[in-house]
Amino acid sequence: MGHKILADHLLETNQITVGETKKQRTNLTITLSLVLFLFLGTTGFYCFSDNITLWLSRHATNSHSLSHENLGDAIESENGVVAADDGRCSEIGASFLRKGGHAVDAAVATTLCVGVVNPMASGIGGGSFLIVSQGSKAEAFDMRETAPLAASKDMYKNDANAKSIGALSMGVPGELAGLHEAWKRYGRLPWKPLFKPAIKLARDGFIVAPYLGRAISTHSSKILNDKGLRSIFSRNGQVLKPGDTCYNRELARSLGTVSELGPEAFYNGTVGEKLVDDVKTMGGVMTMDDLRSYRVRVTDAMAVDVMGYTIHGMPPPSSGTVGFTMVINILELYTASGHDLGLHRLIEAMKHMLAARMDLGDPEFVNVTNSINQMLSKPNAEEIRKRILDNTTFPPEYYLSRWSQLRDQGTSHFCIVDGNRNTVSMTTTVNYPFGAGVLSPSTGILLNNEMDDFSVPESITTPDHLPPAPTNFIEPNKRPLSSMTPLVITKEGELVAVLGGSGGTNIIAAVIQVFLNCFVLKMKPLEAVASARVYHKLVPNVVRYENFTAINGDHIGFSKDSKMFLEEKGHELEEMSSGGAIVQLIVQSFKEEEEMVIDFGRRLGKDNTIKKTKTFKGLLTAVSDPRKDGKPAAV
Ligand SMILES: *[C@@H]1O[C@H](CO)[C@@H](O)[C@H](O)[C@H]1NC(C)=O
Ligand SMILES: *[C@@H]1O[C@H](CO)[C@@H](O)[C@H](O)[C@H]1NC(C)=O
Ligand SMILES: *[C@@H]1O[C@H](CO)[C@@H](O)[C@H](O)[C@H]1NC(C)=O
Ligand SMILES: *[C@@H]1O[C@H](CO)[C@@H](O)[C@H](O)[C@H]1NC(C)=O
Repeated sequence: MGHKILADHLLETNQITVGETKKQRTNLTITLSLVLFLFLGTTGFYCFSDNITLWLSRHATNSHSLSHENLGDAIESENGVVAADDGRCSEIGASFLRKGGHAVDAAVATTLCVGVVNPMASGIGGGSFLIVSQGSKAEAFDMRETAPLAASKDMYKNDANAKSIGALSMGVPGELAGLHEAWKRYGRLPWKPLFKPAIKLARDGFIVAPYLGRAISTHSSKILNDKGLRSIFSRNGQVLKPGDTCYNRELARSLGTVSELGPEAFYNGTVGEKLVDDVKTMGGVMTMDDLRSYRVRVTDAMAVDVMGYTIHGMPPPSSGTVGFTMVINILELYTASGHDLGLHRLIEAMKHMLAARMDLGDPEFVNVTNSINQMLSKPNAEEIRKRILDNTTFPPEYYLSRWSQLRDQGTSHFCIVDGNRNTVSMTTTVNYPFGAGVLSPSTGILLNNEMDDFSVPESITTPDHLPPAPTNFIEPNKRPLSSMTPLVITKEGELVAVLGGSGGTNIIAAVIQVFLNCFVLKMKPLEAVASARVYHKLVPNVVRYENFTAINGDHIGFSKDSKMFLEEKGHELEEMSSGGAIVQLIVQSFKEEEEMVIDFGRRLGKDNTIKKTKTFKGLLTAVSDPRKDGKPAAV
């Protein structure tokens, strides 16, 4: 109790999270919260790295013993949670946790479900990044699509469109191989039952959710142009609408075969052979050799310390972890600020990061060590801070961008924590909405267009006029640069959050803003996710801000004052009529006694080991972004 009072005094803003009731309202007309970020910044970020951090981030102390409570887009439980961007898939994941499954078992079932009910964004024809943490270990699974053996850097020379539409834009899918590899290492339940719910949805039909309905409508010409897509997403010449039932019986059959025979059925068996035949017919170059030689890359997750937390994320070809860290390192250097200025500084830091990230690429093909070290370096953050002026913004050249930016999109992210606090953070993608715009009729599998995430020499004619990044040119077996940013966040070895997003280049900015809302502003998890966000692409030199009504009717609003403030600094602003990225978040909060023990461990220093005898099991709050029609589920 004494600590609570102390915490209240230390909190000089109205963002008090301690002792409030647990009811979380989806009050989305929040002025962009970075205002406060600055305000708190006057005392320096470091004050949040001491033991008040956990006190402040805690909420719902008095109802801590409840098993779980549904709060709409958020849910609480001590036993395990799943936050996917579709409620059916969260529930399917949670059902395997209830059966005693590991977070990875739930991840397999959730991924397969999302691939069926949100087919515009993911599927077994795509690829993913997956972080698993168990105890003090965190591993990174890179199951990203890979350039086929017949690919070359000039393959789109005569037809630039073929890079993003049609079977030639397809990378070799990694999804099933990666899921299987993670399951082999961590799974506790048998493989086959994990497929059952997804097979049932594909075979017996599933209701088209509003978000999918909107995607179908937006991309209706793409759908009607392709025989495979047409057969699944339209009826009598009309595309499906929200509430209609959608079937993909061939996909159900493919999933059934893989559930019985394992991923070999896809990578060296009948499912793969049918897919390769279809791809060939449609003008693609992927062969059985490509499928047979696909390898999942498993490494230690990249671990970086920021603001007293340890971030566990993907190494390149993801630009997410290093990009995130670079921006936070810059912002952490500010000690005094005022209102919307923080937003300006965030935007400027992001512009520098976007420029720097184009020096990254697949580490198995290009040496990106120097680029990574540069982006993670504190002295470099100091240098960049000096180049950020509080009175103005600059044209793109100022940020030392040598290479043109990529546009990627069409993803899905979910977070899972199980009863033992094993954790999965996974982002899965087919790149564009409905990937390559072609679906293999004989397998029901949607083709990704991940090849578009590579840079090609002839893209010099893009509107930005900057040359393309050579580190990201196409080579056989190479993996393209990605913005996907699945993260697991710990403090003193205890899990505090799982976080990630979908939405292409916007992902890194969204994940940074949710992190700041959560850990600097101490917003409640739902508010942290729901607050309006800003985005920048460096080129064009425009700040885009969210100000729209989400699919569930909530208004996600940006303040006029913030807009005016930024315009005075010379930013050009543009309103977004829909969300830029979708974020799923799980936060673990602890009881006071636990926080003290965790903090005590920290004060003794890393080398002065008190043996960690137990994993603390705090209250888990899971949030699915209200921008999409997802819902979390609890055990
Ligand atoms: C593919 O399957 C054949 C048997 O059909 C087997 O001999 C071969 O080793 C398999 N290749 C790989 C890479 O698994
Ligand atoms: C990559 O570059 C770094 C820094 O220049 C160097 O130390 C390292 O040996 C290089 N790695 C490889 C595999 O060439
Ligand atoms: C911004 O401030 C710097 C000095 O800190 C000054 O040199 C520059 O002229 C100012 N720019 C604008 C646009 O006011
Ligand atoms: C946000 O949207 C509301 C309602 O459409 C509008 O009245 C307001 O001016 C917008 N705000 C900004 C900053 O664009």
